[in-house]
Amino acid sequence: MRQRNVKNKKEIINNSKYIISNPNEYIGKWKKLFNNDNPIYIEIGMGKGDFILENAIRYPNINFVGIEKYDSIMALAIKKIEKNDLNNLKLIRMDALNIDSVFNKEIDKLYLNFSDPWPKERHAKRRLTSPNFLNKYTKLFKNNVVIEMKTDNRLLFEYSLISFNESGYLIKEISLDLHNSNHENNIMTEYEKKFSSLNNRIYYVNVVKIL
Ligand SMILES: C[S@@+](CC[C@H](N)C(=O)[O-])C[C@H]1O[C@@H](n2cnc3c(N)ncnc32)[C@H](O)[C@@H]1O
Repeated sequence: MRQRNVKNKKEIINNSKYIISNPNEYIGKWKKLFNNDNPIYIEIGMGKGDFILENAIRYPNINFVGIEKYDSIMALAIKKIEKNDLNNLKLIRMDALNIDSVFNKEIDKLYLNFSDPWPKERHAKRRLTSPNFLNKYTKLFKNNVVIEMKTDNRLLFEYSLISFNESGYLIKEISLDLHNSNHENNIMTEYEKKFSSLNNRIYYVNVVKIL
């Protein structure tokens, strides 16, 4: 995502009631933080937050945690999210490389929307669907690992399908053209809005790994 520098980004982040600034301290305790037994869904690479915000509004009985690596992007998301008063949404500004020090056997679903493709082979390990990341995700889930992924990048999609398959995931649902399929209740991300307006096809897959 192209980043524009957001003035006061640190201040916006530090003052937001949605931000969890010490996420490692909540490992194994996210249920307590939300103060209920509702399922926990996370999104890695939430960008400016449209998807996670709309989900949190639409599904008050699910807890959502949005994760984003960059301060400026997180600050833009917070500006939007703070217009709402939601108890079922938290945000973490971190690199997902350390995700397994934040959650332990407590989440129910992971969303990966329009993840950075890292097209060069030497950067393949940085892809959020590389075996390196898939291996980390296993530790986060309460029961089975459930991942929903959307992208308009065919090469990343193909790479991810192979990676899921080699790591023992099963496909529950797949679409090679999400917006012309009978998949229901789709919530669009910023990138999805942008790319579908350019007539790019949106690929979607929902995979599960039985633990
Ligand atoms: C291409 S953007 C997509 C944003 C949004 N999901 C959407 O669909 O509109 C990818 C986002 O993932 C974030 N990201 C990439 N790698 C990450 C990582 N390792 N940990 C956390 N966020 C990451 C980027 O900073 C960027 O905001």
